[in-house]
Amino acid sequence: MKRIFITEAINKVGEEVLLKGWVNSRRNMGKIAFIDLRDKTGLVQVVLVPAELDEVSREAMPKIRPEFVLAVTGKVQARKPGNENKDLASGTIEILASKLEIINEAETPPFEIDNEERQASEELRLKYRYLDLRHERMARNIKLRSDVIRYVIDYLVDHNFTYIQTPMLSKSTPEGARDYLVPSRVHQGKFFALPQSPQQYKQLLMVAGVERYFQIAPCFRDEDARADRSPGEFYQIDMEMSFMEQDEVLDLTEKMFTSMVKKLFPEKHLTFEPWPRLKHADVVKKYGTDKPDLRKDKENLNELAFAWVVDFPLFNKQTAEDFFHGSGKSQWAPSHHMFTRPKEEDLPLLETDPGKVHSYQHDLVLNGLEVGGGSLRIHDPKVQEKVWDLIGFTIEQKQQFAHLIEAFKYGVPPHGGIAPGLDRLVSILAGEKNIREVIAFPLMGDVRDPLMDAPSEVTKEQLEELGLVYRSK
Ligand code: AMO
Repeated sequence: MKRIFITEAINKVGEEVLLKGWVNSRRNMGKIAFIDLRDKTGLVQVVLVPAELDEVSREAMPKIRPEFVLAVTGKVQARKPGNENKDLASGTIEILASKLEIINEAETPPFEIDNEERQASEELRLKYRYLDLRHERMARNIKLRSDVIRYVIDYLVDHNFTYIQTPMLSKSTPEGARDYLVPSRVHQGKFFALPQSPQQYKQLLMVAGVERYFQIAPCFRDEDARADRSPGEFYQIDMEMSFMEQDEVLDLTEKMFTSMVKKLFPEKHLTFEPWPRLKHADVVKKYGTDKPDLRKDKENLNELAFAWVVDFPLFNKQTAEDFFHGSGKSQWAPSHHMFTRPKEEDLPLLETDPGKVHSYQHDLVLNGLEVGGGSLRIHDPKVQEKVWDLIGFTIEQKQQFAHLIEAFKYGVPPHGGIAPGLDRLVSILAGEKNIREVIAFPLMGDVRDPLMDAPSEVTKEQLEELGLVYRSK
């Protein structure tokens, strides 16, 4: 017999089925035992009555414990009225087993999988993440993430976007965080940087005539962790478009997420339709932050208050950290990044009063978090040069971007884009406070993976091959 999923058994009352999965729990009632069997589609109650089982199965029956892997053959029967379980999708049926096979045994897990208050530290949950992901809530989060990715890919491909993968081994992009560096064996003394985002590649793809690019892009930033921030890597829904005004970029993004919420999350409602487009100065004045939570009911996880923030200043006052992470020495640092286009009417102010220049930056805010950022880009080398001068770039620093300026000599279309943060967006949609709950294998807050035990030491030979010497602090 072919194995079917538990949800497929629901409509097969009276039929014999073969189910495979894990023992979620076991209850004994005299000679009879009840097992909740779990597969990727849910749980079902299996009734074990010794008289109904064959000889081998009867012997297996007392051995069965939680998390054993089982094959169960049995008849689907409707539960007696009053015995239905409303909490289970399969709560109207149960399986009367005729045959049991223990495919694999399991040790007692280090924490109770079924228990929502697992009482396990995050370290323990991540060390045994493959068990943690068996929990219904975690399995649902991972599936929901997959559904969001699929929706976005379908939507953007249907709107003429091309999915393009850009390199992981690349050169540092100045997004304002520390880079992860990868030493080159072939070119000793030189390093690749893992991309903080595909920013320069997506702009080069616009020069290439792609016009509409997107990618579910891994980004690497060596930052401190926060509840809404992954310390090592995270994913963006990275998009770039040519010949589009700022409003068109916002319209497209807004339509995509609005239709996604309606299709995938019918239980949720949007506070605003269309989403408000608020000026940065007004937002900061009114709410004291540029990512306000605009929900009518701040406790309601099913309310989604998307809003755009636009009209940002092009520059902020530079901090010591800006200087360290790439901006040159100056009083100005880019508010978003150095490729953001200033508003045309403010161009003269670049010479006289740079702090007053406004830009085509747009941030997407959802329930008090920044879930996306983007802008129209500079495509005039003279303006780019001016921005670099203002953030204090040296000739050597400018030289690092010579390829971009070179590319712009060969017919660059006006372009712009946005990169919603996938992990942040999914965490809000899943009603999770911490983005690690929607990442299958996240790093701990202290930038460690207790499951694989990464980062790890490497052998002396590996270091030698790379021409590296490790000097302990
Ligand atoms: P930015 O740096 O604003 O823009 O990032 C875009 C979005 O990515 C998400 N994000 C993060 N999510 C989880 N963990 C992190 N450490 C993290 N850092 C950022 C946020 C943020 O809004 N290249 C530009 C985009 C563009 O201009 O098109 C960029 O990376 O949701």
